Amino acid sequence: MKKRVIIDTDPGIDDALALALAIKSSELMIKAITIVAGNVVAEQGARNALRVFDAFAGNLPLVYKEAEQPLKKALRTSLFHGEDGLGDCGWPISSRQYENQSAVDVMIELPKKYPNEITLICLGPLTNLALALKKDCEAIAKYKEVFIMGGAVEVPGNITPNAEFNFWVDPEAASFVLNHIENTTTIFGLDVTRKVLLTPDAWKVFEERSEPVAELIVRMLRRFPQGLFINDPLVILASIFPGLLEYVECKKKLDVVLDGQNRGKLIFGEPANSSIKIAYKVKAKQAIDLFLERIN
Ligand code: BDR
Ligand code: CA
Repeated sequence: MKKRVIIDTDPGIDDALALALAIKSSELMIKAITIVAGNVVAEQGARNALRVFDAFAGNLPLVYKEAEQPLKKALRTSLFHGEDGLGDCGWPISSRQYENQSAVDVMIELPKKYPNEITLICLGPLTNLALALKKDCEAIAKYKEVFIMGGAVEVPGNITPNAEFNFWVDPEAASFVLNHIENTTTIFGLDVTRKVLLTPDAWKVFEERSEPVAELIVRMLRRFPQGLFINDPLVILASIFPGLLEYVECKKKLDVVLDGQNRGKLIFGEPANSSIKIAYKVKAKQAIDLFLERIN
């Protein structure tokens, strides 16, 4: 049976790669793409998801958008992904439209329809999930599991010395989610994602292919002559191949620093029962091989 997923995302180059990978993975049934502000503003993020979809034919998932701003802080987008979020690679604007319904409402409705069947995969700041939890925590409890790309435990941050981008953009949302989520939840932080580097040597295979998706990927990746850590795609891979990573159960309260120079830093508090696991080890070469195989 296919695994039902909702992907909450802020496309973003690695988010775009994650979407392409998910579409190419027959094990997954994507029930919805929900867009949150992060790498780019939500409107641009939604348009980017639709631009990625233009590289594919057939039945594609519906795109919904919501949080335009983090819960409390002003949005700070990322320069890393270019002005347009897809590396300013010249990929055409899509004529497709996103749906009018609110992404947060969709995140609430779908698990009620498919209780304990959907995996929620969060690849951006946790604003949408925090809003959904605040609005209807009983509905969110009906997700089978939640996967979160965010945080850094033993490695430095990527936006400040101590913080990972997704948690830093909306620390209030990350803190709220970590304090209120009751589902089996797995965190994929920089400790694992920064072990998985897609190098120009590896993506050469796409240069020989004529499919639009290969062309889009090559255009985006040319921006990174040193290679790109495929943070978000790794979480999609983990949803299909759980054995690709090793996890430790979190036996302490988890939280995120809200302000000051440690804003966005993931921290551990007093011992507590927790439904959260943290990925700490990854078979990096296998992850890259699987990614390349899938996209090809
Ligand atoms: C995360 O931040 C974003 O820039 C990426 O898309 C990824 O989700 C990595 O810290
Ligand atoms: Ca992202």
